[in-house]
Amino acid sequence: MTKDKTRYSADTITLKIDPDEPTPEIIALSGAVLRAGGLVAFPTETVYGLGANALDTSAVDHIFSAKGRPSSDPVIVHIADVAQLSDIAIDLPDVIHRLIGAFWPGALTFILKKSPSIPLNVTAGQQTVAVRMPDHPVALRLIQAAGVPVAAPSANRFSRPSPTSATHVLDDLEGHVDIVLNAGITRIGVESTILDLSRPDPVVLRPGGVPLEALQTYLPQVVFQPHYLGETVNAAPSPGTLLKHYSPDAQVWLFKGPGALDCMLQTAERLQNEGQKVALLLSEADLQGLSAMALPMVFSLGKDEAVMARRLFFGLRELDAQGVDAILVRAPQQQGLGLAIWDRLLRAAEGRIIET
Ligand code: TXA
Ligand code: MG
Repeated sequence: MTKDKTRYSADTITLKIDPDEPTPEIIALSGAVLRAGGLVAFPTETVYGLGANALDTSAVDHIFSAKGRPSSDPVIVHIADVAQLSDIAIDLPDVIHRLIGAFWPGALTFILKKSPSIPLNVTAGQQTVAVRMPDHPVALRLIQAAGVPVAAPSANRFSRPSPTSATHVLDDLEGHVDIVLNAGITRIGVESTILDLSRPDPVVLRPGGVPLEALQTYLPQVVFQPHYLGETVNAAPSPGTLLKHYSPDAQVWLFKGPGALDCMLQTAERLQNEGQKVALLLSEADLQGLSAMALPMVFSLGKDEAVMARRLFFGLRELDAQGVDAILVRAPQQQGLGLAIWDRLLRAAEGRIIET
């Protein structure tokens, strides 16, 4: 096997760990590896993260090279205690305290003005920093054991669907991470909501595990401001939000509107006749309605948004593994967790939307 010298390399060890009662020795070892400059992939309630000591410039560089991530895409700093926030960010707006009280630990990331102590490669040269306190015992204890804030993007190869299991992490990063902590499947399944508090009028840059509607209780004016690169609207404040993202190898097509299901079936038939291997990603309800008919390959996303979020990236990876050429999906409602699911599907589809 030829080694890719541009990637961070390591002999990966995978350690099984109880999500609720993590073994102290495993946590201590992993914390020490982080402190020494290594990379540890760990579970959070959203997706698995690829962690490094956020204060160690060279360890953070290794995150980028392990993932094949462009250095222009900043990473989130993870903390285990609110007291750590003042080491990472400055000029905190008053509203943050109420938001922390309501949503931390949890799937909400704040963009704030950065403190000088955070290396510039963490923030991709910007004067703002992303911070989050994850709601997972393994993540929290790992950060405590490391004794430093932990920089962590999702633990996937750049532009691949985010990992919701340790198997996904290994599929993408085996040989490029020191330790993978395997605590099973992540609870939420889509990444955190990113709220930019560094500007006078806060906006959501990425919908995620905390619904926009929940934030609006505290910030009535807040909206999701899509800024996919490839759209001409505005300069992107979140450099990582390229439209091509979360992409499986298969082409994803998103169907919208009242005729979506019929159109999906017709399209599936046409593509199959052209010799393509086609799969439908469907909700349980849509699937029930179709069960009597001859169907192409089907992956059920489950009965509601929460299950859908949990199964989405798993489904995309699963269908890729089966060598599917085209994945046809019905667009979800853009509310609650549905907004995050919509956003991830839109990126997976690289903008291929069919209005019916
Ligand atoms: O749930 C999550 O947020 C997971 C887990 C591991 O915590 N992390 C995650 O990280 O999704 P990542 O790197 O895959 O996505 C972070 C996003 C990127 O789109 C990045 O561009 C954006 O956050 N971001 C980071 N720092 C930023 C900053 N200073 N300003 C604007 N966007 C920022
Ligand atoms: Mg990511």
